[in-house]
Amino acid sequence: MKYLVKPSDQALGELQVPGDKSISHRAIMFGSIAQGCSQVTGFLNGEDCIATLRAFANMGVRIEQLAPTELKIEGTGKFGLSAPDTVLDLGNSGTSMRLLMGLLAGQKFNVQLVGDHSLMSRPMGRVREPLTKMGADINTAANGTPPVEIRNVSALNGIHYELPVASAQVKSAVLLAGLYAQGDTIVIEPQPTRDHTERMLQSFAYPIDISGNQISISGDHHLQATSVDVPADISSAAFFIVAACIARQGEITLHNVGVNPTRTGVLEILQKMNAEIDVHNCAMMGAEPVASITARSSALKGIDIPPELVPAAIDEFPAICIAAACADGNTQFTRAAELRVKESDRIAQMASGLRALGVAVEEFPDGLNITGGQISGGCIDSGGDHRVAMAFAIAALRAGADIEISDCANVATSFPSFVETAHSAGININVC
Ligand code: S3P
Repeated sequence: MKYLVKPSDQALGELQVPGDKSISHRAIMFGSIAQGCSQVTGFLNGEDCIATLRAFANMGVRIEQLAPTELKIEGTGKFGLSAPDTVLDLGNSGTSMRLLMGLLAGQKFNVQLVGDHSLMSRPMGRVREPLTKMGADINTAANGTPPVEIRNVSALNGIHYELPVASAQVKSAVLLAGLYAQGDTIVIEPQPTRDHTERMLQSFAYPIDISGNQISISGDHHLQATSVDVPADISSAAFFIVAACIARQGEITLHNVGVNPTRTGVLEILQKMNAEIDVHNCAMMGAEPVASITARSSALKGIDIPPELVPAAIDEFPAICIAAACADGNTQFTRAAELRVKESDRIAQMASGLRALGVAVEEFPDGLNITGGQISGGCIDSGGDHRVAMAFAIAALRAGADIEISDCANVATSFPSFVETAHSAGININVC
């Protein structure tokens, strides 16, 4: 699937973006192992979360999709999952695979996890390593990539684990294994990462202790069913926030967007670049803060992105790179090597795409330096990465000619209604 995007001046309107991907995954996982029936509203009905849903359906959980964004989950309790009759195919979804590794390490059955071409080349050793220390029996390919084989062990033990990389997926996998371990599991983070697991465990009445950068959990308790309202995904909103900032006529308001402080790095970075962004109507949606966000046409300037903001903006770098290409001066970020092991190598993919549009880019092992200026038209390879594809679609707002983007089908993993939402804002994407 290709996008052919025509230059246009407008990014206007009040838009609703779909539910948060990270929170939707966790709602299925925790609802499945809770006691009782949980309801989920605002669920992201995208391919990644459907992969998680199918995995739990394959393990005997009854999940009814009452509407595209509404689920009823009949929890089996912590020990009620059953052996799947097939390998679990998690498609493009790294979150599904890594969190499931933790959750399945302590089950009384064997299971194999696989995925698509991109997921089969992503690192799982970072999750296997702490889980093995807990007594799990997990095999991957020699270089730490899937397939992941998890075998039944008699027991897991709690550990005290200092995360070597700032990763919410690794943190969550260890905490989920901790639900099944004897004794306490303690995780220490080098930098704060998204804390949806911690917040949602508390919503499911599971005790968890958080003190500074240290999170402790014990296996002694049970999750109680609850209702989860999923906020709109700030990672999807980011494309339209950047669109409004770079458009000649830009003003977009997005409602009920998740503004958990571990996710709002993109707003801070864009505001440092001089973006006109207002965050208003702040409220709580269950355990998660939400707000309306209004972004307007802005005279962006290049900045050095503070490295401490990287984890809280990790999925938004493709969109931030487009803002940088439209800014006056240079924007540089480093200490973001994690971007090389996302759905694609996002540093390489953004660098080559920007160069194809005539933008000067210097590439480092862990970041980029982008010189803002004119953007030409051109052909971009998204590398099958949803966020790279959406970022370059937005870039057409400032391009001198059409932008053609190949391999866009995976936009459906996180934002199935992206093209319709873009049309409603005045962005001219043709799908071919
Ligand atoms: C996620 C954590 C992040 C993010 C990913 C979703 C999660 O990865 O990039 O898209 O839901 O826990 P890290 O594990 O690198 O933090």
